[in-house]
Amino acid sequence: MTAITIPPLSSGLVRVLIDADTIQRRVTELARIITKDYKDVEDLVLVGVLKGSFILLSDLSRKLGVTHSVDFIALSSYGNSEKSTGNVRMIMDVRENLADKHVLIIEDILDSGYTLDYLKRNFESRRPASLKTVALLDKPDRRVVEVEVDYIGFEIPDVWVVGYGLDYAEKYRTLPYIAEMEPV
Ligand code: IMP
Ligand code: MG
Repeated sequence: MTAITIPPLSSGLVRVLIDADTIQRRVTELARIITKDYKDVEDLVLVGVLKGSFILLSDLSRKLGVTHSVDFIALSSYGNSEKSTGNVRMIMDVRENLADKHVLIIEDILDSGYTLDYLKRNFESRRPASLKTVALLDKPDRRVVEVEVDYIGFEIPDVWVVGYGLDYAEKYRTLPYIAEMEPV
């Protein structure tokens, strides 16, 4: 295998908050725990919240030792600003019927909590066999609505972060690490 070159920080990014190895180790650990928790389950479906979860979903799903399907949902809460309004809209729904399925929502980051709160209520009404959530990152200081998350990768301070799926104005999603942005 050829060595992977880690891209250097672009201007506007202050520092690497979580390096690529640390992320991979944590995702492997979460996959191990989730595999254990779902070992006797038949109809597991991972639902990735687009776009931010696409890298986590692809890494996590390939490390799971349980057969599962993959689906996606797209939501919008921010409009054009970075501030959450609490006004969550569904842009694209899942294709699968979630009734009687074991649903695991995959989210990039838990911030105000509005997005996951909306999604959990929406999915509960479809009568899944079970419903749990994964979030790679959690910014507890930013919480507006209380929402329970079952599997969290890392707690981080209240700073804007990019990489490993997360963006700033659609940039930096493919960085292998999580970096802190310079305040704008
Ligand atoms: P919430 O509804 O406020 O919890 O917002 C969650 C969504 O806001 C996430 O799914 C992200 O798409 C986005 N978000 C929140 N904080 C950040 C960040 O630091 N970087 C990139 N996206 C973020
Ligand atoms: Mg998101």
